[in-house]
Amino acid sequence: MNILEKYMKRCLDLAQLGAGNVSPNPMVGCVIVQNNIIIGEGFHEKYGAAHAEVNAVNSVKNQELLKESTLYVSLEPCAHFGLTPPCAGLIVSKKIPHVVIGVIDSFAKVAGKGIERMIKAGIDVQVGVLEKECRELNKRFFIFHEKKRPYISLKWAETSDGFIDFDRTKSEFGGPTWITGGKALVHVHQMRAVEDAILVGTNTALKDNPSLTVRHCPGRNPVRLLIDNHLRLPNTLRLFDGTVKTIIFNSLKSENVGNTEFVKIDFGKKIIPQILKMLYQQNIQSLIVEGGKQLLESFINSNQWDEAHRFIGDKFFSNGIKAPEISGKIVHSEKFDSDQLFIYRNNSN
Ligand SMILES: NC(=O)c1ccc[n+]([C@@H]2O[C@H](COP(=O)([O-])OP(=O)(O)OC[C@H]3O[C@@H](n4cnc5c(N)ncnc54)[C@H](OP(=O)(O)O)[C@@H]3O)[C@@H](O)[C@H]2O)c1
Repeated sequence: MNILEKYMKRCLDLAQLGAGNVSPNPMVGCVIVQNNIIIGEGFHEKYGAAHAEVNAVNSVKNQELLKESTLYVSLEPCAHFGLTPPCAGLIVSKKIPHVVIGVIDSFAKVAGKGIERMIKAGIDVQVGVLEKECRELNKRFFIFHEKKRPYISLKWAETSDGFIDFDRTKSEFGGPTWITGGKALVHVHQMRAVEDAILVGTNTALKDNPSLTVRHCPGRNPVRLLIDNHLRLPNTLRLFDGTVKTIIFNSLKSENVGNTEFVKIDFGKKIIPQILKMLYQQNIQSLIVEGGKQLLESFINSNQWDEAHRFIGDKFFSNGIKAPEISGKIVHSEKFDSDQLFIYRNNSN
């Protein structure tokens, strides 16, 4: 790792501290270096609050040193007035002579404009240090702006013999079938806490009666999404408890009732593109799909997914509901006691 990468790695570590608090903004970290010493650091801490560059610049005690410093930042500084003034303008006004950027911003209002502004002001700008890692950190943000849909993660747990549930009778409805253990459960709640929205199908809502909230770790709840074509689900389900914003895609009505929003869509057409379009319009940058089989397969068959989290527990059901089949590149695997997680990436992305 060379010296530029070392400081960019520090930017990435700082940026990560904003996880779960900055969406729909990206996570960004910034360090300011003078004579090989870090004299300032900052990251984007909360949506609507100061950007990383502002926090880093403000953290420098002797502001005169900025004129002989290099500013490292994991994402191109912005050039537009949003909730805060443009960071490229701040860098120019502080006369910082060198800027090293991880990756160019693909948000239309920024895309290359921040760099252009700094170069025009005579700043020496270098782009592309740890570019892959910087892009990976904000994969949700990049996919959202480039594909005009949320970043989609699929998630399910299957038994060692490939079932996501056993054959249940109606009297056994009302709770999930546990396939994996406590550590995997905590991990799933950590996953939920960094996604903007969470979606389940009608049968899953009815049979499992999930809350879809974050309870086994700190973090905010994602917006809950549910498909219920004919509004056949009983309003006694946990998803209707009004504690978290919940959107119900259906064919009958568009209406707001407290925290619950009914959104009418056309079930005569493919529903996934309609849902994704609406989520894009609502600035929802990432989505986790937690089953069941039919819903997961709708995403897999239409190739609308970015990653899949497949947990395999040590139970055997022999029969029941078969797990979805997925092909893609395994990019990560992890053990949680006797459970194994495989993370797949969609090869075509
Ligand atoms: N192990 C796990 O990780 C896990 C996770 C979740 C669920 N599960 C299990 O999975 C089972 C439920 O799976 P499932 O396949 O039966 O049901 P599901 O996917 O939860 O729901 C299917 C229903 O949702 C609606 N739907 C889903 N996708 C649709 C689409 N693309 N277009 C239109 N409507 C769509 C349809 O409702 P209508 O019929 O009303 O039109 C469909 O019948 C349960 O037993 C649950 O316990 C397991």
